[in-house]
Amino acid sequence: MAELELRNVTKVFETRNGPFVAIEDIDLDVEANTFVSIVGPSGCGKTTLLRIIAGLVDASAGSLSFEGRPITGPGPDRGVIFQNYALLPWLTVAGNLMFALETVFPKRSRAELQQVCERYIDLVNLKGSEDRLPRELSGGMKQRVGIARALAIEPRLLLMDEPLGALDALTRTYLQEEIEKIWEASRLTAVLITHDIEEALLLSDVVVLMSRGPAARITKLIPVPFKRPRSREALTGDPEFVRLKASLLTHLTQETRAIEEARNRT
Ligand SMILES: Nc1ncnc2c1ncn2[C@@H]1O[C@H](COP(=O)(O)OP(=O)(O)OP(=O)(O)O)[C@@H](O)[C@H]1O
Ligand SMILES: [Mg+2]
Repeated sequence: MAELELRNVTKVFETRNGPFVAIEDIDLDVEANTFVSIVGPSGCGKTTLLRIIAGLVDASAGSLSFEGRPITGPGPDRGVIFQNYALLPWLTVAGNLMFALETVFPKRSRAELQQVCERYIDLVNLKGSEDRLPRELSGGMKQRVGIARALAIEPRLLLMDEPLGALDALTRTYLQEEIEKIWEASRLTAVLITHDIEEALLLSDVVVLMSRGPAARITKLIPVPFKRPRSREALTGDPEFVRLKASLLTHLTQETRAIEEARNRT
């Protein structure tokens, strides 16, 4: 049994125009300690799928389990990094981490949690910024707080919804390599949603392709063979990297073109 198992997961939203099938019959197995990326056209249902795995949204049909137990709601075994950071604006960097830590570990002493907090602030290179408020941070710094907060609760599954999507190219490249290093050290089971094909290839063991919606499905699983630790420089010149990148890009453009054609017909 895979660590994370999804069977026939379907989500139907009730809308003013009637039921809307966002994703349909999603089957996915994620093995322990692997890094999986999900790639698909905009609006196909990636966030919906991730929120279902996080337990923030219920599936309309199908079943899903983590470590053999059904997922029925959010839990500290799953850490989530959101695209829009989702920090509490009135709390400092350390405050945001401590809030999460105290919620997840109510029995641990404050001193112990403060140590954990410090360790993770260090890990994402935010030492010296502990007392700043989110509005005093750059986008890249805010996302590093988000990463530290998700990791500090020591989840066994890390869920990331386009964590670097809002960042400039340079910060993004830097944080991609940071995530690769942090993941190398922890080997957490991870699921990443991204629009960035190079990011998916740099970080993952498997890339999962989703078709366009409505009723989006998983169309392909692509194993990513490169040895770790990986670096962007080493991969860029690798012919297999170039080939995989081209094939992922073809899939995405085909799906996106099909969406436009469907739109033009209506
Ligand atoms: N609460 C909701 N009610 C109705 N429809 C919804 C709701 N949430 C999402 N949808 C619809 O479900 C589909 C999938 O949305 P979702 O946000 O999961 O897509 P996505 O793949 O994450 O898109 P993007 O790449 O742009 O982030 C979209 O058509 C969206 O309009
Ligand atoms: Mg999304």
